[in-house]
Amino acid sequence: MTQIILAIESSCDETACSIVKNGNEILSNIVSSQINVHKKFGGVVPEVASRIHVENISVVIAEAMEQAKVTMDDIDAIAFTQGPGLIGSLHVGVQAAKTLAWMYNKPLIPLHHIIGHIYANGFVDELTFPLLALVVSGGHTELVFMKDEWSFDILGTTQDDAIGEAYDKVARVLGLPYPGGPAIDKLAKEGNKHYVLPTPKTEKELDFSFSGLKSAVLQLIQREEKKGEEINKADLAYCFQETALDTLVGKTCKAVELMHPKQVVLAGGVAANSRLREKMIEAMAKYSDVHLTIPPLWCCTDNAAMIGAAGNTAFKHKFFGSLDCSANPCKEMNI
Ligand code: KG4
Ligand code: ZN
Repeated sequence: MTQIILAIESSCDETACSIVKNGNEILSNIVSSQINVHKKFGGVVPEVASRIHVENISVVIAEAMEQAKVTMDDIDAIAFTQGPGLIGSLHVGVQAAKTLAWMYNKPLIPLHHIIGHIYANGFVDELTFPLLALVVSGGHTELVFMKDEWSFDILGTTQDDAIGEAYDKVARVLGLPYPGGPAIDKLAKEGNKHYVLPTPKTEKELDFSFSGLKSAVLQLIQREEKKGEEINKADLAYCFQETALDTLVGKTCKAVELMHPKQVVLAGGVAANSRLREKMIEAMAKYSDVHLTIPPLWCCTDNAAMIGAAGNTAFKHKFFGSLDCSANPCKEMNI
């Protein structure tokens, strides 16, 4: 039986709507990015983000329906990001989804943003379980083990900054534009191993920590400035990136050895990083019985198609929400 999901994503600074058929056929995928507005402030301004979502949400939904050539009669359910994310931003998508569900009497599917990122891999490969996801975004750094479909066990998480946050902060001190990840990715290609930065340490083997590394970059810049020396930005971007990515890849290898997944997937905005992709391919080649899936660039950063993909699985299991559900900025995975 055909299933068509209308999916909405508005957790941060992208207003997005997508129509997804049977979980992996994208009929439309509209993303209205606010990056050009937030760039001027050097990061996302939550109040500004929610106002722009309010202005854009109806247009984005209408455009997604038009491009997909569907009417509300064709839609089986409304899926949306309930959390985590910025409360004001989430609210806009949640209210839009609830309004549509109420008006057209459709089931409502509240989803976890990161589950969407993981299920985005379903657009390029079949998901096989047990599966290990390295989740790397602006708000999350996690190793998620899925023994089955829709089962999420967090093996390790960051004790402080998320990896994307560290990229954005380091980029800012290097004078690079927001978002910092793509800027560091590009600049690091011209850099060399010139600076020594501390390897992040954590109490638990599969946890992460990036605030010490971020502070070390800042202190190094201040030290050099005091000495009147000029920083080689490309070298510093390179050294930061190598140190940060080696921890991500090293801990993913440890998790593979502990959990023996059949498939490893990358998920979240930082999965767009060219060096992380190279390093993961090289590292996973050691495990002949593990299949690595790297999502294409378009579905690494925030979009609603990934919410439609996850929504399709939730629909099969009838994980529906009710009209009194609300945005949940601290939403947990296993609910
Ligand atoms: O998943 P995402 O779009 O939003 C969140 O859910 O947070 O991720 C955004 C993050 C930002 O921190 C951005 O700097 C980072 O992903 N990012 C990258 C790259 N492209 C985006 N980080 C490193 N290298 C990239 N090429
Ligand atoms: Zn995201």
